[in-house]
Amino acid sequence: MVNIAVLGYGTVGSGVVEVINTNHASINKRAGADINIKYVLDLRDFPGDPVEKVLVHDYDVIANDPEVDIVVEVMGGIEPAYTFVKRALEAGKSVCTSNKALVAKHGPELMEIAREKNINFLFEASCGGGIPIIRALNSSLTADEIDEITGILNGTTNYMMYKMSTEGCEFDAVLKEAQAKGYAEADPTADVEGYDACRKIAILSSLAYGRFLNYEDIYTEGITRITPEDMQYAEELDMTIKLLGTSRKIGDDSFYAMVAPFLVGKTSPLYSVNDVFNAVFVHGNVLGDAMFYGSGAGKLPTASAVVADVVDEAKHLHRNIMTNWSSRPLELIPMDEVEGRFFVRVKGTTVDQVKAVFDEVEIVNLKSLPGEFGFITAKMKQGEYKEKVQELNGSVITMIRVKD
Ligand code: HSE
Repeated sequence: MVNIAVLGYGTVGSGVVEVINTNHASINKRAGADINIKYVLDLRDFPGDPVEKVLVHDYDVIANDPEVDIVVEVMGGIEPAYTFVKRALEAGKSVCTSNKALVAKHGPELMEIAREKNINFLFEASCGGGIPIIRALNSSLTADEIDEITGILNGTTNYMMYKMSTEGCEFDAVLKEAQAKGYAEADPTADVEGYDACRKIAILSSLAYGRFLNYEDIYTEGITRITPEDMQYAEELDMTIKLLGTSRKIGDDSFYAMVAPFLVGKTSPLYSVNDVFNAVFVHGNVLGDAMFYGSGAGKLPTASAVVADVVDEAKHLHRNIMTNWSSRPLELIPMDEVEGRFFVRVKGTTVDQVKAVFDEVEIVNLKSLPGEFGFITAKMKQGEYKEKVQELNGSVITMIRVKD
């Protein structure tokens, strides 16, 4: 028997208990052991819920019980999750977590403790909900030098952008829907401002490039300034707008990473990733393109990924599964050096003036928005774009990057 303790009985925690109870027989078969939920930790009481029998309020009970083999951290946030996880690992208990904030901030330290103790710290559910992307990067794409990862990494914002573009929904109303469906973070600012996607692209990039990308170094822009008018322009251009987390290796030791809304064309596989779905596009030097797609948020998809880690840890109780993520920092080039194309909406200027400044541009007009127009620049460094756009003397309404 392998005893587990689940820290947190919220959306994901209750999902973990449900998944283990629903698929008990097949999970045990795959784990090669009987997975037993010995404890669930939560500050709250759950009268009438079967979990009452194993509910504890004091973490010491779990940390001090030598029969607990695996701790499942699904509380979210940095504290007390960090203290609890570190204590569990130091006591020789493997840990799996869905907590991207914890992994992005303390991942290298926690992985090192797990290595020293010959146990495991796994975090499949921290990125892409139920999509098995961490395991793919760690165990499957090992023949490649990866040079790009671009993902739709936040289910809440993808759901919002999809509803805004297809049904013209208002930002606040559609955010409330995403919260009601259990997709959003406790503080949805983390979703709409891109902080959640930022931590996820930091984790994926650290695994892909084998070095620690500090999420605080990643330029991050959310979706709060995207308007229905921007969506109309996107449609006219045969594109849509998605919040992307992206990182690229552009030279031997030269990388960039960012989170921002992007215009995505119909030919991109990311164009059709709608609703709460997530997708992670990976480019490897021998593999070429690959895309991983699936449910990006919500109780059961996330719990599915957490329980897959429980199974892996039960199979490797006293053997560390190597993770390709060193603590050596990954440094990024300045954002002004990053190349791309830019979609710009302007008013109070003319096409001739825009062409005089930017030379070759693709112009787009919308009948419904007289007095303004949009254009897409040629590929240029962001610093060059910033210099040129100043010559338009405050005519810019908005700028959105174009995904190439
Ligand atoms: N709030 C997150 C999202 C949950 O919407 O993607 C899954 O990490």
